[in-house]
Amino acid sequence: MFSWGSASRAHPGWPARVGPLRVAAGAVTLRPVKMRDAGDWSRLRIRNRDLLIPWEPTGDGNWVARHQRSNWAPMYSILRSEAKRGVVLPFVIEVDGRYIGQLTIGNLQRGAVRSAWIGYWVDQEWTGMGIATAAVALGVDHAFGPVGLHRLEATVQPANGASRAVLTKVGFRHEGVLMRYMDVNGRWRDHDLFALTTEEIMSSAVDTLVQSGRAQFR
Ligand code: ACO
Repeated sequence: MFSWGSASRAHPGWPARVGPLRVAAGAVTLRPVKMRDAGDWSRLRIRNRDLLIPWEPTGDGNWVARHQRSNWAPMYSILRSEAKRGVVLPFVIEVDGRYIGQLTIGNLQRGAVRSAWIGYWVDQEWTGMGIATAAVALGVDHAFGPVGLHRLEATVQPANGASRAVLTKVGFRHEGVLMRYMDVNGRWRDHDLFALTTEEIMSSAVDTLVQSGRAQFR
């Protein structure tokens, strides 16, 4: 049971638990971030510093200082209010109930556009097991189903082979290059724009993953 109230007209599909979808490592589920994620968030973000820094937006100050437990409360409060406004879906990725990363669907636009971006990270001890792929497939089906979006975008650096592989496995297409798109690790970095619209999904992203043998429903 979540404390964020029931799904509203302003933000259909939120709050929600999405999944499970089974991979060899366990059952992958998406669930809303919680105030009590502070400890897991801080521990995992600090231990994954070297995995995350090359791909994440440049932040103010030192990585460890930025990821102290006490920094979760203000961040959670922003996510919670943005989620209530219907602008973001901030999910934790769980495997068998354990916090192992996050998946965010952000900048939700309604009206004639009905689009958002998707981003994710997974703890280094759990990478290479199909978890991000399962999580993104769950996120895509949720965004195109209960949330009612038509298009999802993902921006990824050319050298981020693992993330590009995740997007490709779920069916995202390369659309173009965004020159000097984002300040990452202290420099403006080119990013590739990947996208997916509802027309490109055969039945569902999860069904496609299951049919390819990469995941199971139970
Ligand atoms: N080049 C090409 N493919 C690679 C590479 C590489 N250097 N490294 C791994 N891969 C492949 C794997 O073989 C696997 O494909 P396969 O299943 O066909 O063998 C695939 O990449 C990874 O798939 P998953 O196991 O589902 O992904 P995982 O759970 O390991 O998570 C992730 C991938 C999220 C990118 C993780 O490595 C991570 O958190 N990285 C740091 C943060 C990050 O880069 N986040 C994404 C930013 S871009 C965005 O959010 C749109």
